[in-house]
Amino acid sequence: MALRVSIVLPTYNERGNIEPLLAQLLPLRAQWDLEILVVDDDSADGTAELVRQIAHREPCVRLIRRVGRSGLASAIKEGLLDATGDVALVMDSDGQHEPASVQRAIESLSGAGPDLVIGSRFHPEAAILGLSGRRERGSTWANASARFSLPSCYGHLTDYMSGFFALRLEPLLPMIRAVDVNGFKFLYELLAVSRGRLETAEVPLTFQARTYGSSKLDLAIFWDFLISILHSLSFRLLPRRAISFGLVGLSGVAVQLLVTQLLTSLGGLGFKQALPAAVIAAASSNYLINNALTFRFARLKGVLLLRGLLKFLLVASLPVMANVGLASAYYSLVAPNAVGAQLAGIVVVFVWNYAASSRFVWNTPN
Ligand code: GDD
Ligand code: MN
Repeated sequence: MALRVSIVLPTYNERGNIEPLLAQLLPLRAQWDLEILVVDDDSADGTAELVRQIAHREPCVRLIRRVGRSGLASAIKEGLLDATGDVALVMDSDGQHEPASVQRAIESLSGAGPDLVIGSRFHPEAAILGLSGRRERGSTWANASARFSLPSCYGHLTDYMSGFFALRLEPLLPMIRAVDVNGFKFLYELLAVSRGRLETAEVPLTFQARTYGSSKLDLAIFWDFLISILHSLSFRLLPRRAISFGLVGLSGVAVQLLVTQLLTSLGGLGFKQALPAAVIAAASSNYLINNALTFRFARLKGVLLLRGLLKFLLVASLPVMANVGLASAYYSLVAPNAVGAQLAGIVVVFVWNYAASSRFVWNTPN
């Protein structure tokens, strides 16, 4: 009996790319029992409508259309959980991954082969045509941190961030279920939750330039990746959002120290007069950065952004007062050391702020 192969194609605004890609993939029906799942996150350009039309004439094409559940890793997870093949392959649907590699990846899985085959852009035989120098350097850096944070048995891999990979569905299902989908990088998360239990291999990939549309990779996705690495390094004990909130908090520490410094040295204020203004500046900057990164799935805009700031300051005012009180007490009782005094106050308030603002400002349970 023919091998049943499920190809998962995440799409977000890929109307111009999906049809030519499907046309290249459909001939694979000749050798396999093929299923193609397109997971679309309610693209505004009509990708889903186009795929639905194609599915009318091509019964092996299935559309999974999601509303309000956006995110690449979560789209991949959903596609894999719905797939009915013996093996599944995930690839980008913007034409950057060449369909020619599909065959090779699936073949390397067959028989007593590995559980997971990764299409690598950094394999010695691979070629990268579609990445800017900056993106390529970024990926090299990201790969090095990924290698460092993952089990050492995956140290031979060369592309932990790839969006192209094939796997055996049944044995991997429990791990797929466990993947944390907050990030962009499904593969990295899969390797992390597998704790070194996977037999892995790589095939070279020629990474093409995009033909139509633009990349969805942005600063926020880079941030997610940084959080993923820290999450792995903390043995996945801390919630990802708490790590993000903590990092933003660190930037707030810098703001607070800087503003006090400015107000006392240039503004001529005393430490105790400068402190409240510095704490409010730091809290506002934390709020804005958290809104853009940590809670961007529930991002507040316009009037709501302003209302959120007031709520955040209110939620934070208890610990802010504790912060000011503690710092002042430290300053007068322990040592007149402005930096030490502020750090003491800041550490105490972190936990309260995270718990309370998740709940009351962005309405998400932690
Ligand atoms: N359903 C869904 N939801 N699909 C998405 C989303 C989303 O939120 N974001 C992106 N996609 C789809 C795109 O439509 C495309 O098919 C694929 O995921 C990759 O997205 P791109 O925006 O083209 O990513 P890239 O080319 O910048 O990134 C490439 O390199 C990364 C590693 O640096 C891709 O190969 C990634 O898969 C890879 O992780
Ligand atoms: Mn792309």
